[in-house]
Amino acid sequence: EGGGHIEDVPFSFEGPFGTYDAHQLQRGLQVYTEVCAACHGLKFVPIRALSDEDGVQLPADQVRAYAKGFTVTDKDTGEDRDGLPTDHFPANNDAGAPDLSLMAKARAGFHGPYGLGFNQLTKGMGGPEYIVSILHGYTGEEKEEAGSTFYANHTFPGGWIKMPPPLADGQVEYADGAPNDIKHMAEDVSAFLMWAAEPKLNARKDVGFKAVLFLIVLSSLLYLTNKRLWSGIK
Ligand code: HEM
Repeated sequence: EGGGHIEDVPFSFEGPFGTYDAHQLQRGLQVYTEVCAACHGLKFVPIRALSDEDGVQLPADQVRAYAKGFTVTDKDTGEDRDGLPTDHFPANNDAGAPDLSLMAKARAGFHGPYGLGFNQLTKGMGGPEYIVSILHGYTGEEKEEAGSTFYANHTFPGGWIKMPPPLADGQVEYADGAPNDIKHMAEDVSAFLMWAAEPKLNARKDVGFKAVLFLIVLSSLLYLTNKRLWSGIK
């Protein structure tokens, strides 16, 4: 299926050395909580992960306070209680909206050139860009069909999406005073959803880099050893 228009966003986490920007992830969490969570769930993400060093970096007391905002039916007792950091974000199926836990990895952003996906190498993976473009891609047109309202969107495959435009300029008041127009809020929440889908990205790149460094050193030593071993035989 062919996707529509995708904007390229220079996210901090792109490239071999890119890492998450904790402040951006905190703003994204705020957008997710105040806007997206009304319809979407994030059921595969444990709330305690919000304190991870590689991610959102919320202090432990704020994570506890955040969890407490949810009411959870305890699996063991069957009774309702306040949420704990060990719980997951709630699921949300009320509006028929897909769970967003893995959305940033579930959608290909860049398909070209010629469907080769080569732009994924040069411009970043593209999933978070797809989400930015969806949130930013409404034309303002809508239609009724089979009892549902559909909204025209440049990015959504087929051009009509059932999600009403969720963001409006200035909708979320950021604690850090960062810009809160649609474009910036869309980037922040998309970065947050990328973290949700790939929470170990920083660690993975770090280990990858060290492994490559190690292999370079090891190959040099083996090369020199080989030279010395065979030096008598010419
Ligand atoms: C679908 C993101 C807020 C209702 C989606 C999709 C994404 C997304 C990425 C999937 C598109 C696809 O299948 O390719 C977000 C974000 C939000 C947000 C980041 C907050 C900024 C909302 C809100 C509602 C909603 C507030 C309800 C009023 C839906 C529905 C779909 C959907 C019904 C399914 C659309 C379809 O398949 O036609 N959303 N959403 N979303 N969302 Fe949202």
